Amino acid sequence: MSRSTLPEFLAQHHVTADLQTVILGLAEVSVTISQALAKGALAGILGAAGAENVQGEDQKKLDVIANDLIKDALAKLPAVRGVASEEETDVLPCHTDGRYLVTFDPLDGSSNIDINSMVGTIFSVLPHTGSAPVCEQDFLQPGRNQAAAGYVLYGPSVMLVLSTGNGVTMFTLDQDSNTYLLTDAEVSIPADAKEFSINMSNQRHWTAGMQSYISDLIAGKDGPRSKDFNMRWVAAMVADVHRILCRGGLFTYPWDSRKPEQAGKLRLMYEANPMGFLVEQAGGEVWTPEGKILDIQPEHIHQRVPVILGAANEVKTCVDYHK
Ligand code: AHG
Ligand code: MN
Ligand code: MN
Ligand code: MN
Repeated sequence: MSRSTLPEFLAQHHVTADLQTVILGLAEVSVTISQALAKGALAGILGAAGAENVQGEDQKKLDVIANDLIKDALAKLPAVRGVASEEETDVLPCHTDGRYLVTFDPLDGSSNIDINSMVGTIFSVLPHTGSAPVCEQDFLQPGRNQAAAGYVLYGPSVMLVLSTGNGVTMFTLDQDSNTYLLTDAEVSIPADAKEFSINMSNQRHWTAGMQSYISDLIAGKDGPRSKDFNMRWVAAMVADVHRILCRGGLFTYPWDSRKPEQAGKLRLMYEANPMGFLVEQAGGEVWTPEGKILDIQPEHIHQRVPVILGAANEVKTCVDYHK
């Protein structure tokens, strides 16, 4: 059976030539990142980089390596006006005529790097609407505006999952030819869930609504939900949301009382919006306790947000516990 390559798919689906260059540029650099990850300890690239990023996190060497590779790859593309990254304090200007802005999480799931577990790269492409030179304000657009969003999951196989606003398509990297081949064109999240995904160790710090929602899930058949639920937590949003795109369920990283002003751990522009765009495109819902994440008007590029996403009915149930 012959499978479409990523360039063939983009050409067939009327993606603008400029946007194609951005997606193909990200795909190409992801192959380089996957090769670095595969070498791991042999290349001396595991462990800490010895610096702290703007998020207040200790950077891993691979956070820095992936960030530099993606930044350099995007800066070469005439279609890219500017970029913003989880690992960069400020937005970086690129080409003055570029039509697109790109935000990215170069390596998601950093705590998995040193245990040879799953990590990913997340990207979001926004139209450029401001005037030159590019500034932070230009990036502050609701997730609804995204021209494309996607991620690369570096797992047992390397997968690129993409939406340009017409559903979600999954590609798998053919390691012989270093090309991404289409492997799933009908990604859809069932409305009801049998599985949930949350870091349970933070339970005592959640809102009362989230505490009672999760305890009712755990109560299973004997509790108010009259149904058993399974739980999974990979600790890389990319991998946890990938599972939901493949077999359904609910994922949440809730608001946490330890840092109330941060509103949660996940970043709106590098994590919640792009992953949320994919989930909505697959028929799922993406909310905070207050409303839909893709409608949020961002106030700054590193803003954080509580995230509840996945199976449409289950997300609504979870949000209702907060009322
Ligand atoms: P990053 O590695 O890009 O900083 O993101 C990590 C995020 C996200 O991927 C994941 O869902 C979450 O942090 C894991 O948090 P815990 O450490 O609480 O499990
Ligand atoms: Mn990080
Ligand atoms: Mn991340
Ligand atoms: Mn990251």
